[in-house]
Amino acid sequence: MTTEQNLKALVREKYAEVAQQSHAHNIVTACGCGPACGDALMAEDYSQLQGYAAEADLGLGCGLPTQFAHIKAGDTVIDLGSGAGNDAFVARAEVGPTGKVIGIDFTEAMIAKARTNADKLGFNNVEFRYGDIEQMPLNDNVADVVVSNCVLNLVPNKAQVISEIHRVLKPSGHFSISDIVLEGELPQDLRQVAELYAGCVSGAVQKDDYLGMIQKAGFENITVQKQKAIHLPDELLLEYITPDALKAFRESGLGILSVTVYAEKPAAEAADTVAFRMAQAADLEEVKKLLSSVGLPTEDLNPALPNFLLAFVNGALAGTAGVEVTGEVGLLRSVAVSDSYRNYGIARRLVADLTKQVRLQGVKSLYLITTTADRYFEKQDFMTVKRDEVPVEVAQSTQFSGLCPSSAVVMKKEIGKPKIKLNELATASSCCSPSSGCC
Ligand SMILES: C[S@@+](CC[C@H](N)C(=O)[O-])C[C@H]1O[C@@H](n2cnc3c(N)ncnc32)[C@H](O)[C@@H]1O
Repeated sequence: MTTEQNLKALVREKYAEVAQQSHAHNIVTACGCGPACGDALMAEDYSQLQGYAAEADLGLGCGLPTQFAHIKAGDTVIDLGSGAGNDAFVARAEVGPTGKVIGIDFTEAMIAKARTNADKLGFNNVEFRYGDIEQMPLNDNVADVVVSNCVLNLVPNKAQVISEIHRVLKPSGHFSISDIVLEGELPQDLRQVAELYAGCVSGAVQKDDYLGMIQKAGFENITVQKQKAIHLPDELLLEYITPDALKAFRESGLGILSVTVYAEKPAAEAADTVAFRMAQAADLEEVKKLLSSVGLPTEDLNPALPNFLLAFVNGALAGTAGVEVTGEVGLLRSVAVSDSYRNYGIARRLVADLTKQVRLQGVKSLYLITTTADRYFEKQDFMTVKRDEVPVEVAQSTQFSGLCPSSAVVMKKEIGKPKIKLNELATASSCCSPSSGCC
């Protein structure tokens, strides 16, 4: 087993034991039950909260995450390390019958206890799933709110849990998590006393590192909603350290903190919208700018830009394509898309729409000349042809005769016949219901 697996096995073993005990027992034996997290020093009084279920309160929390979770009726709330369901049942009171609460825990005895509690309470919208919160048994973007009480400090890979929280939250969703963090490096002997006395300390990280991980995962509006110093009594500390060491500790500002942190997953980025329209003479300068930026010629452009189709992204020119029409022959030219909008299918759409447009004007063959994009146009059904096969109307165009090097590839596509798609024959069952008799 790796160190991480060992740590998790220890945590599971401890909480399997704790699951068999009552709140009163855990409070009384907080010092004695080893590294079980949460005790009288840290746990908040839940008893007055709506939704409070005494059987689910094992006194294992170190804050009150639902207090800052802004849970609304109908929300889906995930409770990480749900224990016997203490926070899940409080969240259930806030989401109401139209919402949903899912608790996740990797100690089977805790899951069993939480499910028994939910059954007794008769809730059908509170579910407890067995699983490791480093790999949550949840799809992406399912939660409005994530809460957790005194759990992340027990998890070896906190960054992984935070990234999982980001994954399961919907865009604009948020979390409220109570946890134990450290401020300053506690001397080893103090750390051991604290661990014996209060639990949760051995896996706790520095507050700044904790908040840094949240920021790195992409969360916004990160706020420490509540912070409470965990006070270790002098009498206890003096059993382990000298009075001078105690004095130095008290003056150092080092400490163990219970914090409740809130943060939001950013809203989904709004998709850019692409609009297409035929060019007008007033577009000439913008078109020239775009063509020049991608190295295409502009000197021979007809200033009226006939048969030029343009693509605009959020109002700014992002793509062009034009056809010089001579009778039944067209020369496709100036197919250009600005760097930021390549590979979104804009060029393909410009060429397809323009092809339809010039077909209506009687164009039957479309030619183009390219030095770089022959593979691309092959995929659009253009075929390479010899230069001497090019009709005189195209061969005489300025672009063809003057501007392109002789190494350029000439390509052709027959466009005289429109492309059509034949739909499947509708079957009786899909065209009507047996009773309607419409077939
Ligand atoms: C201190 S207790 C808190 C329980 C509950 N949140 C409460 O306040 O009553 C920690 C809980 O987290 C669970 N836990 C610890 N590490 C976990 C992990 N990696 N995945 C899932 N659950 C975990 C433990 O099994 C335990 O039930």
